[in-house]
Order: sequence, then structure tokens, then C-alpha cells
Amino acid sequence: MPVVDVHSHYVPQGWPDLADVCGGSDWPSLRVDSATAATIMLGEREFRPITDACWNADQRLADMAIDGVDVQVVSPTPVFFAYGRTAAQATAVAGIFNDLALEITAQQPDRLIPFCQVPLQDAEAACRELDRSIANGHRGVEIGNHVGDADLDAGGVIEFLQHCAETNVPVFVHPWDMPTSPRLDRWMAQWLVGMPAETHLSILALILGGGFDRLPASLRIAFAHGGGSFAFWLGRADNAWHERGDVVQGLSTAAPSSYIGRFSVDTVVFSDPALRLLVDTLGAENVMMGSDYPYPLGERPAGDVVRRADLTEADRGAILGGNALRFLN
Ligand code: CO
Repeated sequence: MPVVDVHSHYVPQGWPDLADVCGGSDWPSLRVDSATAATIMLGEREFRPITDACWNADQRLADMAIDGVDVQVVSPTPVFFAYGRTAAQATAVAGIFNDLALEITAQQPDRLIPFCQVPLQDAEAACRELDRSIANGHRGVEIGNHVGDADLDAGGVIEFLQHCAETNVPVFVHPWDMPTSPRLDRWMAQWLVGMPAETHLSILALILGGGFDRLPASLRIAFAHGGGSFAFWLGRADNAWHERGDVVQGLSTAAPSSYIGRFSVDTVVFSDPALRLLVDTLGAENVMMGSDYPYPLGERPAGDVVRRADLTEADRGAILGGNALRFLN
């Protein structure tokens, strides 16, 4: 059974000046610092230092060999989603990055599995870019967990997810665009607190907003970082659904725990008890190994927490690869 990492990111080495191509200003750019290092810039601000693992397939494959990973899903880095721009701008950016992703994965298309990005603020444009990307070799799509104030239960997002179900394309949901405040701008709190809360909220939105009830059960959708805080607080959500149903139930037809099985999560949680909680709460069949490679908040070696966990060998095999093979079809 191959070992599959469902959560990694790429950044291409170069892309055209997005202000020239798309109009507008303050687009991300890449400051090349050396042959193996660069910095993602947002305007004049340094957003994130990155290494050539982001764009160099040889480096990626060498690290996979070290970590014992056979197959890696290669997804966009969310800072390039551009959901806050016009649909035309986001479509242009998606096209540029999706085509560059295929250049990175072309060397080993059966081991480096490209996931595309789409202009999620416009369902029709998102479906078009999805179809174009899939025709060109992408195997799935990564979406952000919200579009401005619209969560995953918004009409346009549901329309897009229905299209993914109809065309049999797996969806990976990644938190992004976290709320900011002086309290959250310290210690990477947007990543350490904001991201898990964002992901928790987007799963709840699909449940309480009636998203899962409107979507076919055949939709394959997975959430990053163990689904954020969701599994830990599922009991609280269930209790609230029963005790304060007048305000909590929303459009859902059943308690939150009854939607277990409609979605998967990855294993980027780092601790054995956290992985145990995911397996006990969501079922081993709904957990897939992920690493967040090659970023510093990712796990190396990829899959370490799964390999050392107290699991049956059947569950370990499913989490390391079997579930992902189903997810990826
Ligand atoms: Co990530």
C-alpha cells in the first residue's frame, strides 16, 4: 500500500507581475534571495520565507524518499487564492498558478498529484476553471474555508461543491485569511488559534448551514489540520444542538455527530492523543496522513505521528494511504 501525503503546498519559482496581468495593486510577489531561497512578499511586506522545496520537484521527491512517502498531493499556497479580488482577477491568477503547478508535477505525475485553485467568489467561473484544470491534469481542488463573510454553506460555494461531486473531483479545504487583531497578531496566533477555529467553523457551517444536507453523499471533501478544533468540541456542538436547538440547529436535519462520515481530515496534529481523538471521534476511515510540507508548521518526517501511534495495523495502513487512495479515486 503506497504512503500518501494529502497535505502539501507548492509555490512556483516565478510568475508574471500580477498587477500587469490582472490590474490592481498589492499582489503577492516572489523575492528571490538565492538559488534555493525566496520570500513571498505582500506589497513591501515579507509574508513568508520559503525554500526551493516549494518549486523544485527533485527536492520534493528527495524529501519524500527520506520520509517514506510515495505519493504527495501538491496544493496551492492559500495566500494566492485572491477571493477578495474580482472574479476576473482571481480567474486569471488561478489560471497562471494552476498551469505552473503542472510544470512542477509533470516530472512524476503519478507521485506528485496536483490540486488546483479556483475563483471561489464566482461559482460559474470556479466550475469553469476546475473543468479546465482537470482536463489539463489536475486531480483535485483546494479551496479556502471561506470567501469573505460567506462560509462554505453559501449558495455559490454549495453550487461549486455540487459540481465537484458531479465531476467526481476531491476537495481539500484549507483555512486562510484569518481574522486579525492586536491580540491575534502575536506569536503566530492567527495560525495557532485562528486556523483551528476557522476550520472548526467551516465544518459546522456545512452541518448547521444545511450544506451537507444539500450536497450528495458522494462528495469527497477533506479538511486540513485534523479538522481544526471540530473533533474536540463535537460533544459541545451536539449538546447545544439538542439543548438550544432554537438557535443552533439552523438548517441541519440532524445533530452534528450524525454527519460523521461525510468528510475526512488530515493528521497534521503532531500529538498522539490528538490523533487518537480523531480516530475515536471521526473513525479511522475518515483520517488521512498529511504533513503541510514544506512549511515550518508542518510535520517532518511526514506521517511520524501516524507511524508511532498506538493503532491497529489495519487502521495505520488506512490512514497512511488506503483512505487517500479512495479520496483521490
Ligand atoms: Co497547509
